[in-house]
Amino acid sequence: MKNLQQRSLVIVGIVLASGVLVFAAEKFQLPPETAKLKPGPGAEMVTAQCLLCHSADYISTQPRLSRTAWTAAVVKMKDKYGAPIPTNNIPALVDYLSKSYGAEAPK
Ligand code: HEC
Repeated sequence: MKNLQQRSLVIVGIVLASGVLVFAAEKFQLPPETAKLKPGPGAEMVTAQCLLCHSADYISTQPRLSRTAWTAAVVKMKDKYGAPIPTNNIPALVDYLSKSYGAEAPK
């Protein structure tokens, strides 16, 4: 009888411990898309100039914006939120955003 109780305790212990492990693994694994932007020409510039203030999710979760809408978004970041974006870089940033996350992105 005593043996049986001890065995059930061990089983309960194992079940609890694996539950904690599964919980920890789920909690600490970030999906890869939250960390990085898609590769491509301009990805490094966008990473350097856009991910200073927020994560790549702000870009990747947008609907497929047109070039005009991406231009407006970049100009808003610069003028309204003070993003340190040189005006000369705007075309390259918009080009990457439109081709990777905009209306021109492959399906
Ligand atoms: C100086 C900080 C800063 C930089 C740099 C920056 N942003 Fe933002 N961005 C913000 C803030 C602040 C918001 C609004 C956050 C909120 O509403 O929670 C925002 C929001 C956004 C949004 C969500 C839609 C919106 O208009 O609110 C998009 C898309 C976005 N940023 C794209 C970009 C892109 C692309 C770049 C690079 C060209 C960039 N951001 C650089 C500060 C910045």
